[in-house]
Amino acid sequence: MSKSSNQTKSSVSSRFQPEDFRRALISEEERDAVLRVIDKAIAKHTAFDRYGGEEVDAYEQEFAAHMGTGFATAVSSGTAAVHAAIAALNLEPGSEVICPPITDPGGIGPVLASLCIPVFADTDPETFNVTAESIEKVITDQTRAIVVAHIAGEPCDMGAIMEVASRHHLPVIEDVAQAHDATWNGQRVGSFGTLGAFSLMSGKHHTSGGQGGMVTTNDEALYWRAKSFADRGKNFSRSDVGGFLGLNYRMTELEAAMGRVQLRRLPAFISRRQRLAARLRAALSGSSLFSLGWMPEQAESAYWFLRMRVFGGEESLSKEKIAQQLCDVGIPAAPTYTSLIAKQPWFANKRIFADSGIPWSLPQCQRVPDYDNCCPNAERALANHMMIAFNESMTEDVVDRMAEVMRDLEEKM
Ligand SMILES: Cc1ncc(COP(=O)(O)O)c(C=O)c1O
Repeated sequence: MSKSSNQTKSSVSSRFQPEDFRRALISEEERDAVLRVIDKAIAKHTAFDRYGGEEVDAYEQEFAAHMGTGFATAVSSGTAAVHAAIAALNLEPGSEVICPPITDPGGIGPVLASLCIPVFADTDPETFNVTAESIEKVITDQTRAIVVAHIAGEPCDMGAIMEVASRHHLPVIEDVAQAHDATWNGQRVGSFGTLGAFSLMSGKHHTSGGQGGMVTTNDEALYWRAKSFADRGKNFSRSDVGGFLGLNYRMTELEAAMGRVQLRRLPAFISRRQRLAARLRAALSGSSLFSLGWMPEQAESAYWFLRMRVFGGEESLSKEKIAQQLCDVGIPAAPTYTSLIAKQPWFANKRIFADSGIPWSLPQCQRVPDYDNCCPNAERALANHMMIAFNESMTEDVVDRMAEVMRDLEEKM
């Protein structure tokens, strides 16, 4: 039975308060860890740079152990992590790098800053992630690397992607900014690729405070190159390291002290997110209007945000209204996650380095890819989904009430 608009409005209005979605991320444990670093600096007349400190070194080791990768090097942001990972590969200008079409600008900017040509692989139509098939379709004789991103906390099919990459002898960078501790077939993402790049900014599953990043790899030579690039090309007293352009992307002791505590808490954050998401999925089971986004069965998501599939005739139109109605009752919904990178004006207008047209105008660039119609599945996926902000501090009651509101909306449609 369909309810009148007024009835629905009064039954769901003012149900949520901002604190229902507030994240209690930092505890006394993080505060104590940071204070210890400050106390040490006062006692020893030092400051917080990683040189002479212990926290960044320890965080790197603990991170590598957690990930099961041989090495990890800490940097100042997720963007810096992607940049250091690309720089470690030492790609020639004009190299084609396969990229995800739905991602954060921080995951693409480093490709362009390295004077490489992004080539977008399409997504699965029911997820925001690229697939092994879509990657293989866009490999050319100019392809030199593949970047994949695990969007919304959901792992890409790393088994099949690594198989394609190894058949074509291509390195893979996993952008794990949104997917700390997500697993594919039980293995953490960020440990499959040639390199992994993590963002540790405050909105992520675990954080080094305000900003931070980490690069993971099993390849010692790549580890040293990434570390050197992130530290102005420093050679760390090794004859085989350095000797190329680097930037300063170092993490400081304060961030590492915070990150170490957060890394210990990460498994609890993730299992809490997974339990809450499972509860919402079950509560929406059979809904003709919403479902939590479909994922392959090998995927265990870390649920960075809730990717909500919206069903309906005029999907994108009704989706705007639905997201607005959720917002009206205090649920932090947005009608879409982001636009395709290829459609963002700074990219579409090729204004990367002023009006130079670089990297596409470089003599080394063999072709300008067709960016207009490259990713119909990704366009469709964005049109069919909306996003809801999500975190591990939410209660079961909030999740149940969210499901109730969604069920109310479904009845109203
Ligand atoms: C997929 C992806 N890559 C890279 C980044 C950049 O990370 P940061 O903001 O830490 O530089 C983000 C940030 O959200 C991201 O979501």
